[in-house]
Amino acid sequence: MFDLNYKQELNKRRTFAIISHPDAGKTTITEKMLLFGKVIRTSGVVKGTGNIKYAKSDWMDIEKKRGISVTTSVMQFTYKKFLINLLDTPGHKDFSEDTYRILTAVDSCLVVIDAAKGIEERTQKLIDVTRMHNTPIITFINKLDRDSRDPIEILDEIEKKLKLSCIPVTWPISCGRNFKGVYHIYEKIIYLYKNKVSQTQSLSRIEGFYNLSSTVLDQYIGTILANQVRQELDLIMNVYAKFDSQKFLKGLLTPIFFGSALGNFGVDHVLTSLIKWAPPPLSRQTYTRQVNPQEKAFTGFVFKIQANMDLKHRDRIAFIRIVSGQYTKGMKLRHVRIKKNIIISDVFSFLAGDRLLIKKAYPGDIIGFHNHGTIQIGDTFTEGEDIKFIGIPSFAPEMFRRIYLTNPLQQKQLIKGLKQLSEEGTIQVFRPINNNNLILGAIGILQFDVVIERLKMEYHIDAQYEEINVVVARWIRSKTHLHLDSFKNNNSMYLAYDIFNNLIYLAPSQANLNIVMNEYSDIIFDKMRTKNQ
Ligand code: G4P
Repeated sequence: MFDLNYKQELNKRRTFAIISHPDAGKTTITEKMLLFGKVIRTSGVVKGTGNIKYAKSDWMDIEKKRGISVTTSVMQFTYKKFLINLLDTPGHKDFSEDTYRILTAVDSCLVVIDAAKGIEERTQKLIDVTRMHNTPIITFINKLDRDSRDPIEILDEIEKKLKLSCIPVTWPISCGRNFKGVYHIYEKIIYLYKNKVSQTQSLSRIEGFYNLSSTVLDQYIGTILANQVRQELDLIMNVYAKFDSQKFLKGLLTPIFFGSALGNFGVDHVLTSLIKWAPPPLSRQTYTRQVNPQEKAFTGFVFKIQANMDLKHRDRIAFIRIVSGQYTKGMKLRHVRIKKNIIISDVFSFLAGDRLLIKKAYPGDIIGFHNHGTIQIGDTFTEGEDIKFIGIPSFAPEMFRRIYLTNPLQQKQLIKGLKQLSEEGTIQVFRPINNNNLILGAIGILQFDVVIERLKMEYHIDAQYEEINVVVARWIRSKTHLHLDSFKNNNSMYLAYDIFNNLIYLAPSQANLNIVMNEYSDIIFDKMRTKNQ
């Protein structure tokens, strides 16, 4: 039966991801959010140092060996009566295509920037992906308790590099040892930073501080600094525009917050803005129509497949983002691509490594169920309608290796294993048209080790990889087909097929790619390809 509280359930959900360059503070912020959400009670568990490990799982040997997480975690918690779905994006060496795909399953993003470093390479790449979907972005400038760059300089950099207008919501009062807190421009409150704030305690603030010219400020931070703050705020309130919800929802501007995740300072400002400004579950486009979250029939799409979450069972879990309708236990779902109706008995929600069996779920929620080899990234599930969601793209890999067998007799198994792993989205596999090599393509270096490990554990195949002279890849399409044959003939040594038999150009250098792109102007070299078209 359809839930009468459906609309309410919908409106209280916020599904977002945190993105940052490694070490900017993503894990620390996640932990503080989980503290606010009362999912954890003490700091330190996110890193997995205690017995309870919420935000890191260690389900694979490779993770244990390296002490990092290869998985993408989903965390659900409540904050001020809102239900937050936080999708963690793999960050360090475990950066992979998964990280990009996660961004197609969220409705907003929090970008964390290290105040001493500004925009770093990984942040730039991830934001480029969010810009493709015009995802609303909230920005947190972190580590103000350390020496930082001039905040105005950081905002300039954001505007220039990320092409987003900045709207400061809080403003820092000094930094490093002199960090005194932030002024909340919209609340007109000064929040004072204390070095050792208790983990669950809310911030200390100068209540009723409505007037910057009040001498109360001087008492707290000294006259010299107080005057400096007044001048700075005067400037920034004149220079920067006011927050505009419509522009934010279109991904044209980003509200800016400052703080220290480690000191649990400013994180609740971000959470408050997330529930106030970030959108509830949004509609998604299919090839034939737009699906609205208010629709009563269930729809959802698979954005991630994770293997071996439970090593004892060697299982694979498909992660589904619900777009519309309500999931109820035991309901029949249509697996659109294979045209079959199936009843999925065990549906999970996630708390990082932990799975919880659930009976109900709503748009914006991420649910998971067992995949017995029939589910691929990008698959659509419905209550019967034959529609297919657009938008789980394949991204051109950025690293390449040739994979080879230690025992050449296992070639058939190797091809089967690689096909399955690439259907799951673990790795991309290319077959050159001129030779029998198998080339692996990945976004993050660790994926190659994951593949070797999984081939060994799951398929009993001993394989290794080696460097290969490929630095950039582009999928090939032709506008006119006029010159496609001559292009193929002249460049066969650089061409390969992916597992879906799409032609891809594997260039030995960026210069080589530039030359061939100039030479064949009617050929399209795609950085991205949408699966299952
Ligand atoms: P990441 O997930 O984005 O990679 O970053 P993470 O939260 O792991 O933070 C990276 C390092 O920066 C950690 O220190 C963390 O404690 C520190 N850090 C995060 N936020 C702040 C902050 O607001 N102020 C200061 N001063 N430091 C911050 P680490 O020494 O690498 O790790 P750990 O031993 O502290 O866990």
